[in-house]
Amino acid sequence: MKKVMLLAHRGFSGKYPENSPLAFHKAVEETSADGFESDVHITKDGKLIIFHDATVERTSNGTGFIKDHTYEEMLQLDIGSWKSPEFAGQHIWTFDQLLDFCDETNMLLNMELKNYEVFYEGLEQRVIDAISAHKMQDRVFVSSFNHISMQKFKELCPDIKTGLLYDKPYLDIDKYIERSNADNMHPRYMLLQYQPELVDLYHSRGMKVNTWTVNDEENMRDMIHRGVDAIISNHADVLCRVATEE
Ligand code: G3P
Ligand code: CA
Repeated sequence: MKKVMLLAHRGFSGKYPENSPLAFHKAVEETSADGFESDVHITKDGKLIIFHDATVERTSNGTGFIKDHTYEEMLQLDIGSWKSPEFAGQHIWTFDQLLDFCDETNMLLNMELKNYEVFYEGLEQRVIDAISAHKMQDRVFVSSFNHISMQKFKELCPDIKTGLLYDKPYLDIDKYIERSNADNMHPRYMLLQYQPELVDLYHSRGMKVNTWTVNDEENMRDMIHRGVDAIISNHADVLCRVATEE
């Protein structure tokens, strides 16, 4: 059977605080995932940082939008306690720190540009510069729900692979694919069950199909059976076990 790329969503977020250094370390130590999916924002003073939401309330002890906080303010936040008191003292990583960690551990990285709810001026070029400075163009691929951003990214840097994230059925898929010139499609997994022809359709256009966020065994098996290229899961331990079943 073809090898499916297995990605730990926000690190090993099923067990550890999402997008925390601990979650990335544990994905390496406790699973055999091929890489991570993670999310990047820009602070008020222009630092690229790893975080999921545009605001900090849900996963930290702070309040407000990332865009209104400096890097030093973001670094003070406890991003572990919300998950459990035992994870107190986890602090954000910069994008550079995550790239360094992927380099050290040979992990792949699917970086989601979080420029859908908040517009971050110049995010595409900043991400390209960081990946290029680490010489990780072959190890990192990007995605976004903002397809105009992915089109811009591809125009700025044809060498780094791009992906279109989406969670609703497309009415005119060709239009989006042609405009964006994307390398990969990143559909929510239910959409591949709703429109089973999509995997073959994307493959016939030379694109990879990377699906998310598949957290139960039945749907993991179903996605493998449908021939997707990558599966993103909070439970990378379960995903790795299911993917090695006979
Ligand atoms: O990249 C897949 C997935 O992470 C997209 O949605 O909201 O979990 O970032 P979200
Ligand atoms: Ca994401």
